[in-house]
Amino acid sequence: MSPKKLYIVTGKGGVGKTMTALALVKALQSQTSKNVYYNCFDTTPDKELCKKLDIKTIEFPIQESTTEYIGRKLGSKNIAKWVMKAPFFKALFNIVPSLGNMITLGHMIDTLQNEDDDIIVIDAPSSGHILTVLESPKNFNQIFRTGALVKDIHRMTDFMQSDDLVETWVLNIPTELAVTEGRELIEKLGKSGISNIKDVLNNALFKNELIANEELPEFLDRKVTIEKEVIKSLDSNFDLVFPMYIDKSPIQLVKRIEKKILTELKK
Ligand SMILES: Nc1ncnc2c1ncn2[C@@H]1O[C@H](COP(=O)(O)OP(=O)(O)OP(=O)(O)O)[C@@H](O)[C@H]1O
Ligand SMILES: [Mg+2]
Repeated sequence: MSPKKLYIVTGKGGVGKTMTALALVKALQSQTSKNVYYNCFDTTPDKELCKKLDIKTIEFPIQESTTEYIGRKLGSKNIAKWVMKAPFFKALFNIVPSLGNMITLGHMIDTLQNEDDDIIVIDAPSSGHILTVLESPKNFNQIFRTGALVKDIHRMTDFMQSDDLVETWVLNIPTELAVTEGRELIEKLGKSGISNIKDVLNNALFKNELIANEELPEFLDRKVTIEKEVIKSLDSNFDLVFPMYIDKSPIQLVKRIEKKILTELKK
């Protein structure tokens, strides 16, 4: 596993993004001596869980990222703070909501480009949100066309589209709706120029080792059959498959997924 600089773990609500992102941080930690950080974009991470797992978090609060960015452009952080107090600025963030996302992403990329030893794993809020974030540089480019901002946008886009720097994990669970959404997301990401994608199936009951040799109650047996049918009919070929694990403690779950990531990626 040759580590990238940025990992994005995404997928629809409740598919296991948080558990997988944390497990990916642990797997990367065990494979490199670099600083691997967990980030939740614009939501607050579960710091207690991260601490228990010995995972470092990194946050880019919008206010600080914006002051930093404008400060760099104007050559003074103090002037930046003053500029941001202007009503015009507040209005700008309301008029262009994705501006905030873009500045956060830009700050993150800057940090990664300045720190050779840093790796960030993003637990992306949801598939719709991540698409907005990824598309915002493109939209801005169309609005501004030339100037300093556009240069920065190009730098961001180049970074995000580099297969050596960024890897995106699209998470699915074995239901028709989730897998169909996953396929759509991969297609849309492709249109944003993101092609280094791992298609991941999580929570697969049919992969659970405990049930393999057991006589199952009928409803579980049905569930396994449905899962297999869904996967077959959608002709899915997943890069990684994580079983549905029975023990639900988040720490145990993260450790199991981590182990699975490490064994699967060594193949
Ligand atoms: N492989 C698995 N086996 C068993 N349970 C799992 C597995 N993966 C996730 N879960 C459980 O599913 C639930 C959702 O997982 P998680 O919080 O990681 O999803 P999420 O995609 O981050 O959700 P949200 O969209 O709400 O942020 C949790 O209760 C978690 O314990
Ligand atoms: Mg989550």
